[in-house]
Amino acid sequence: MIDDAPEQQLELLKQEINQHNYRYYVLDDPTVPDAEYDRLMQRLKTLELAHPEWVTADSPTQRVGATPLSAFAEVAHEIPMLSLDNAFSEQDMLDFERRIKERLGSDAAIDYACEPKLDGIAVSLLYRQGLLERGATRGDGRRGEDITQNLRTIPSVPLKLMGSGWPELLEVRGEVYMPKQGFGELNRRAAAVDEKQFVNPRNAAAGSLRQLDSKITANRPLELCCYSAGLVKGGQLPDNHIAVLKKLNAWGFRINEQMASVSGVQACIQYYGGLQDKRDTLPYEIDGVVFKVNELALQRRLGFVSRAPRWAIAYKFPAQEELTQLLDVEFQVGRTGAVTPVARLEPVFVGGVTVSNATLHNMDEVERLGVCIGDTVIIRRAGDVIPQVVSVVLERRPQNAAKIKLPLNCPVCDSEITRDEGEAVARCSGGLYCAAQRKEAIKHFASRKAMDIEGLGDKLVELLVDKQLIKTAADLYKLQWQQISGLERMGEKSARNLMQALEKSKSTQLSHFIYALGIREVGEATALNLANYFGSLEALAAAEEPELLEVDDVGPIVAKHLATFFHQPHNKEVLDGLIKAGISWPEPKVRDSKSMPLQGMTFVLTGTLESMTREEAKSRLQLLGAKVSGSVSVKTTMLVAGTKAGSKLTKAEKLGVDVMDEERLLRQLNEWEAAAAN
Ligand code: IVH
Repeated sequence: MIDDAPEQQLELLKQEINQHNYRYYVLDDPTVPDAEYDRLMQRLKTLELAHPEWVTADSPTQRVGATPLSAFAEVAHEIPMLSLDNAFSEQDMLDFERRIKERLGSDAAIDYACEPKLDGIAVSLLYRQGLLERGATRGDGRRGEDITQNLRTIPSVPLKLMGSGWPELLEVRGEVYMPKQGFGELNRRAAAVDEKQFVNPRNAAAGSLRQLDSKITANRPLELCCYSAGLVKGGQLPDNHIAVLKKLNAWGFRINEQMASVSGVQACIQYYGGLQDKRDTLPYEIDGVVFKVNELALQRRLGFVSRAPRWAIAYKFPAQEELTQLLDVEFQVGRTGAVTPVARLEPVFVGGVTVSNATLHNMDEVERLGVCIGDTVIIRRAGDVIPQVVSVVLERRPQNAAKIKLPLNCPVCDSEITRDEGEAVARCSGGLYCAAQRKEAIKHFASRKAMDIEGLGDKLVELLVDKQLIKTAADLYKLQWQQISGLERMGEKSARNLMQALEKSKSTQLSHFIYALGIREVGEATALNLANYFGSLEALAAAEEPELLEVDDVGPIVAKHLATFFHQPHNKEVLDGLIKAGISWPEPKVRDSKSMPLQGMTFVLTGTLESMTREEAKSRLQLLGAKVSGSVSVKTTMLVAGTKAGSKLTKAEKLGVDVMDEERLLRQLNEWEAAAAN
């Protein structure tokens, strides 16, 4: 390239960058690292700066946004942009196919293209001789707005078509949308500077495209996925829908990776179910499936009715957002005393279930939403996520709307509610005096990953506490079966079963027991690290903060919670009670230098390991007594370098630290572990 004339260099460079853009934004399969892409872009910018006369509209540098407009111009769609009929049930789908067959006068099997219905904004892109000439919104279907400047900033919108064989005039239609991740980041950025957040990715995409200043659009994480061709002049496209989309893909457009072709309406219904199951794992929002008769000749025969084609239908998923009224707000007290405002709602069917409660998280969230009792609110329930209040419809606020106030005292035990400086969460100060906290602590103690007491569900715990049969987890083991069998809905048999489950739960693992104690911020993983490190409950209970900080995953906050927990006389009493009841776990092997051959050594792990995760390698090394650190220093004994090891390897080599590869690590681990076990 060095020998080429500068003008040729520029052309080659543009081609290369466009190719990388295509791999990255359209195929999701980049071939060069970001740094290389940045270098190429930089070189192009330098060349263009030296030769402004060479800057063309299709140059990859011309996506950053142009001079702000005062208004959008109007655009007429030569071929109207139609909407789709909706189906809401299997019956609607069966009717759809029946109508098609009746119209075609044939019972032959029909092939359909299936595509997710993306939840974004429909746009039209017009290419003349392969160059993007105009981009527009759908508008009312006949007239839209010219948003060329904004669409040009979206990396997956080709400024120039790739390959060859495109018609002289080609209109491509598709959906501009904001992926979930980009939406989350955009809202986090907005929250950080106290700006208004978008309600959902669709609104964010619409708001971003409606900017008169395209520099704003350029900073929004938008994508285009195309789903059909519109106007075609001076050329021909394939004769079925899927082949058309594949062609568009080859010319540089992103198409949906979930697209499939099926035969017959039953297969459509099956595809719908499959996509619904996947819905929450997709990186973008969808609100249903679009089914289209695949053969374009059949599409032409079927034609249109009013503003929708007869050959396509949108089979919608149950709505994930609905309007309802906030009837009241109650405050719930959790295991750690956190006081959470919970919205009591006029029951509403959303996301496939009837919802009558939604969490409001904390008072900061109440403030952010600006919500009052009596307000009409938008409720969202996506997948198995707990229902959320998304926003308030202010226009519908009633006169008597009441402000939501954090109570001064705990609704359960009347202790004072406190809120630490800078903390969003308010807490009941009652501790284990508070029945709500006690109930939650015992529910946690009994849960599957803790003591796993089968048959001791939430309702039963509440009943036992309310009847004052138990106050603490230790009391569980003092229960007599007569006491249990006398309770509502508990027969003799379930009482005996519970007694057996309690007995069985007594033999456990130290890590499960630590987790079951419900110490703040001590989850399963931390509990396991603590058990491995200390080996006994006595050692853990006696540890002061500096020693606790030595344990993996334990920072100053967790260390403080741990120390506080084990210092409280009340907790000591409960622990004694539990041990007296007979709870036990296998004694750890004596941790001598033989069982811990790596004591005193510090390992660092870097790069990718093939045969195990870094976490596994880390915990195996730790069990052998090694410290595993995140950075290389003179104190490092050994660097384990997987594939694609980078700066840590360079540093280790510079410092003369020993390096081993994965194969040697595996061999060594097996040897050390065998020696430690003997
Ligand atoms: S086809 C004549 N395919 O849904 C066919 N539309 O309700 C016109 N949409 O305005 C559209 N994903 O914004 C089609 N895969 C898809 C789609 C899709 C989303 C939107 C589009 C359209 C609306 C129709």
